[in-house]
Amino acid sequence: MKKLLIFSLLAVFAFACSQSEGEKTASEPTAEVKKVDGEKIYKTYCVTCHGLYGDMGASGAFNLKTSALPVEERIKVITNGRNAMTPFKDLLTEDKIKAVAEYTMTLKQ
Ligand code: HEC
Repeated sequence: MKKLLIFSLLAVFAFACSQSEGEKTASEPTAEVKKVDGEKIYKTYCVTCHGLYGDMGASGAFNLKTSALPVEERIKVITNGRNAMTPFKDLLTEDKIKAVAEYTMTLKQ
């Protein structure tokens, strides 16, 4: 089973490389990249206050595990900041803010 997984990953990788010269391909790979990005962005910019699992609460950061805030509101908080939370509109593009907001939804218990 593991071998099969590794093999298919290699196959996808080889395929992706062979495609890289041409025009950008379909929506699926892009969605994959976004998902990875959200987590990466979170680990780069947000863990200092919110912690890896969203519940560290440094500088009074809200617990993202228990937050009921919908994703559109999270995008606003991340973009413009709120109280002790710094705005990210100068650091991250709209797409990245959206991706990281979506990632925070996955921390919810
Ligand atoms: C400087 C520390 C700090 C950093 C860095 C930080 N936050 Fe926050 N965050 C806070 C604080 C403090 C609050 C609570 C704001 C308030 O009191 O209104 C908060 C609130 C939030 C909320 C609202 C939660 C709710 O239930 O209202 C979200 C969503 C959020 N942060 C996401 C993020 C994301 C995503 C990042 C990384 C891009 C991030 N934060 C980086 C400190 C931080």
